[in-house]
Amino acid sequence: MIYFLLTVSFLSACTKKGVTASGGTTPIPVPPVVVIDTNLYKFMPFPMGASVGISLMKNNAKYSGVVTKEYISITAENAMKFGALHPSETVYNWADADYLVAYAQANGQRIHGHTLNWYQNLPAWVTNFSGDSIAWEKMLKGHIQTVVARYKGKLASWDVVNEYFNDDGTIRPSVWVKNLGPDYIARCFQYANQADPDAILFYNDYGHEYSSAKRTAIGNLISSFKTRGIPIHGIGMQFHMTYTQTDANISAAINFAAATGLKVHISELDVRVNNNKVQGLVFTDAMAAQQADRYKQVVKMYNTIPKAQQFGITTWNVGDADSWIPSWQGAPDWPLPFDANYLRKPAYKAIIEGGK
Ligand code: XIL
Repeated sequence: MIYFLLTVSFLSACTKKGVTASGGTTPIPVPPVVVIDTNLYKFMPFPMGASVGISLMKNNAKYSGVVTKEYISITAENAMKFGALHPSETVYNWADADYLVAYAQANGQRIHGHTLNWYQNLPAWVTNFSGDSIAWEKMLKGHIQTVVARYKGKLASWDVVNEYFNDDGTIRPSVWVKNLGPDYIARCFQYANQADPDAILFYNDYGHEYSSAKRTAIGNLISSFKTRGIPIHGIGMQFHMTYTQTDANISAAINFAAATGLKVHISELDVRVNNNKVQGLVFTDAMAAQQADRYKQVVKMYNTIPKAQQFGITTWNVGDADSWIPSWQGAPDWPLPFDANYLRKPAYKAIIEGGK
C-alpha cells in the first residue's frame, strides 16, 4: 500500500557546502525530502467532517488524534440518537453527547446533530408506548425540544428526521407514522425550530444516488414544506456508496440536491468495496485506487454546487476498523480514508485532489 506524504522543495537555505577540486566551495542542492504534516480540512474548500464514536474518542489516542487534527466538523455516530439519549421515559443520559460537544468546542470544531427522529435506535419504552395520539405527540415534542434546547447555541445543525422514505418513494411505516400520521414529519421540524431558531435543520436520507423515486419523494416533501412555511434548511445525503457507483448516479444525486436550493450535506460518506460480500476478501491496491477515484469524484462534483449551499462532507467514522459497514453487510470491508492503523489511504489524497 502506498500512503500519502507531502513533500516540498527546499530553497537556498537548505544547501550544504561541498569542496571543489580547485579547493573552492559550491553549494550542493539537497533533494526535496521534507515531510510536512497535514490537516485534511485545511485543504478543503468546504467543511470536512467525520462521525465519531465516544469510546474510541476516550480510549484510542490515535483515533482522537486523527479526529482532532484532520476534521473541522463532527457528528456523533450514535451518541445523539433517541435510544442513546433517552433510554427510559423519565431518564436522559447526556454523558456521551456532552463529552463530544465539550471536546469539539474545545477543539474549535463544528458539531452537527444526528438525529432527532428515526425509526431505528428506539428504546423499548417508545416502541411499546401505549398512549393515544395526544400522548405520542407530547412524547415526540418533549424529546425533540429537550434535546435541541440542551445544545442550543452549541450545535450548528440537526438531522431532524432520518430515513422517512422507502427506496420506492413511499413513506416508511414507522411507529411515528403509525401513531401520528405522515404529517408528523412537518411538526418535528417546527418543534426543533422553536427550540433553537438558529439551528440549520436537515432532512437526512440515503439512496439519492440510486433511486430516482426516492429523490422525487424527497423533492416533493421539500417543496411542500416551502409552500407551507415549514422550516427546513438542508438536505442530508448519506452516500453509503459502493466503489462501482457511477459518475452519472453521483451527479444525479448532487444536482438534485443542489436544485432544492437548500444547504447540501453529504452526511455519512463511505465507499465499500466488497460488493459480493466475500468473507476472505483481501483489500488490494487496485481496490484502493478505484475507491480513491470514487471519493475524488464525489468531492469534485460536490465542489461544483454553489458555495452557499456547501454545508460540507462528512465521512461515516474515521478508520476502516471503526466502520459500521462490515457488521451491516456481514462481510469484511475497508470503506474509509484511513486504514485500521489510522494511516492515510489513497482515498485521503483523492479527497484533497477532488477539492482542488
Ligand atoms: C449506524 C452506526 O454507524 C452503527 O454504529 C449503529 O449500530 C447503527 O447505526 N444511516 C444512519 C446512521 O443514519 O445513523 C447509521 O449509523 C448508518 C445508516
